[in-house]
Amino acid sequence: MSIHIMGTGSALPGRVVENRELEGMVDTSDEWIRERTGIGSRHVSTGQTVAELAADACQRALEDAGKQAEEVELILAATCSPEEAAPCVACQVQSRIGAGNAVAFDLNAACAGFLFALHTAWAYVEAGIYRNALVVGSEVLSKLVDWEDRSTCILFGDGAGAVYVENCQEGGLLSFVQHADGKKGGVLGGGARLLSNPWAGQQECQPFFRMDGREVFSFAVRQVPLNVEEALGKAGLGIPDVDLFVLHQANRRIIEGIAKRLGADLSRFPMNLERVGNTSSAAIPLLLDELNRQGRLKRGMRLVLSGFGAGLTCGACVMEW
Ligand code: COA
Repeated sequence: MSIHIMGTGSALPGRVVENRELEGMVDTSDEWIRERTGIGSRHVSTGQTVAELAADACQRALEDAGKQAEEVELILAATCSPEEAAPCVACQVQSRIGAGNAVAFDLNAACAGFLFALHTAWAYVEAGIYRNALVVGSEVLSKLVDWEDRSTCILFGDGAGAVYVENCQEGGLLSFVQHADGKKGGVLGGGARLLSNPWAGQQECQPFFRMDGREVFSFAVRQVPLNVEEALGKAGLGIPDVDLFVLHQANRRIIEGIAKRLGADLSRFPMNLERVGNTSSAAIPLLLDELNRQGRLKRGMRLVLSGFGAGLTCGACVMEW
């Protein structure tokens, strides 16, 4: 038993922030950002919440699959930027779309979150517990970004992407791998809430993202190819068998480095980071939805999905579309 993606959806907030606009806020330039990252613009929330974006993406994924919300058995929301600690984003999505029969909860593996949530859905379906799931990655990172820090504010964007998956006997998700290295947690993180109570007083916290960009860069270029090869090996496949590599959209140079290490032509690595930046857990399903709606995904095609992020976390899966 496996899972098959039956529908995709996405949602982006309407405000587009071009690199040129950032030039007026921090000491940077459109040329520098494009050359070092490949990013040209990003969407930024002017009020939309993680749950609102997630619900819109899920609704569109259901419509694409031709399914009703009441049929959904499981909703998994991957996010590292919820507005509230509770209720979880997945429960808010359930309420917004009217999926009254689903169980719903969140999962946080940062930018690898969607991938880990997809693998979790597979595990539930494989175990025979649920027959279908909505899996969504949604982020409003703009509230965790220090807009005075040029080394991070140029990278991130807001948005959501979702897939509706159903059990299948053949094809679908063929294999996956996932890894975590908590000792490297200091490389990338932030978003702390203030510890404030009568006993602690008010303690310092790190509200914004902080990052060792070079360390993350080399981790991604080193680790993602290993994950991809490991997942392909588990599926009994090799690099030539893959039609498209749908990778986390963090930086064009990272994707170029991964393609080079894998010995695969860059044309097999679709990208949308130029328009949306790094949307963390939303990045892979956002790109999948774009490819799906452009008609670039044909049944039977083999895809590799791979992501990495804070934690540090990383993983990959192989699927037949
Ligand atoms: N505009 C202009 N200059 C900038 C800048 C910006 N936005 N950000 C940093 N710089 C400067 C640095 O201060 C440094 O100046 P110095 O040489 O005078 O000290 C110089 O550019 C080079 O900085 P460096 O950090 O070495 O650049 P880089 O080539 O490594 O690119 C990143 C920086 C952040 C773009 C790159 O490391 C990266 O993308 N890393 C991965 C980050 C990531 O993907 N995080 C999310 C993972 S899910």
